[in-house]
Amino acid sequence: MDDCKTPIVTVQSIQGDYTGMSPSFDEFAEHLQEEIDQDVIRIYGEKVYERWRNPKFAGRMESPTGYGRVTGNCGDTMEVFLYLEGKTVSDASFTTDGCGGSAICASVACELSIGKEPEQVADVTGEMILQVLGGLPEDDQHCAFLAAETLQAALGDCMCRYTDTQPQKS
Ligand code: FES
Repeated sequence: MDDCKTPIVTVQSIQGDYTGMSPSFDEFAEHLQEEIDQDVIRIYGEKVYERWRNPKFAGRMESPTGYGRVTGNCGDTMEVFLYLEGKTVSDASFTTDGCGGSAICASVACELSIGKEPEQVADVTGEMILQVLGGLPEDDQHCAFLAAETLQAALGDCMCRYTDTQPQKS
């Protein structure tokens, strides 16, 4: 005999329940989103909120000149892609399977590297990322250090490839 007590929910019953409970599901969702937005601003501040709502530089790059992939102690993995043109980073992007904070921090790391020379990118640290964001709660600060570490891994890869393509002195 089947002991399962899970009720069978059909599409009709879900639709019926929602229309019975609320005249406007969209209004309910909008209200919920506003509450979430306010909580994020209160806990993380305006700067983090803006970057969370408008994430920049997310996505893989087709042919990067530098690639870094780091898994942090939290178990999240971040990737950073750099494109070096001449002596300047002309493009950067990232992926992460981690928390919202990791995406925000990786986005800042990319921003801090674009338009910079490798020596300047080498100076980008987790502290700098936190500074741009106006700080993060203690529990989220490691996300900034993971972003900086991944950026440095991508830069290291860039430099290795650059060295490999230079003519060797005889
Ligand atoms: Fe792992 Fe944020 S919790 S990077």
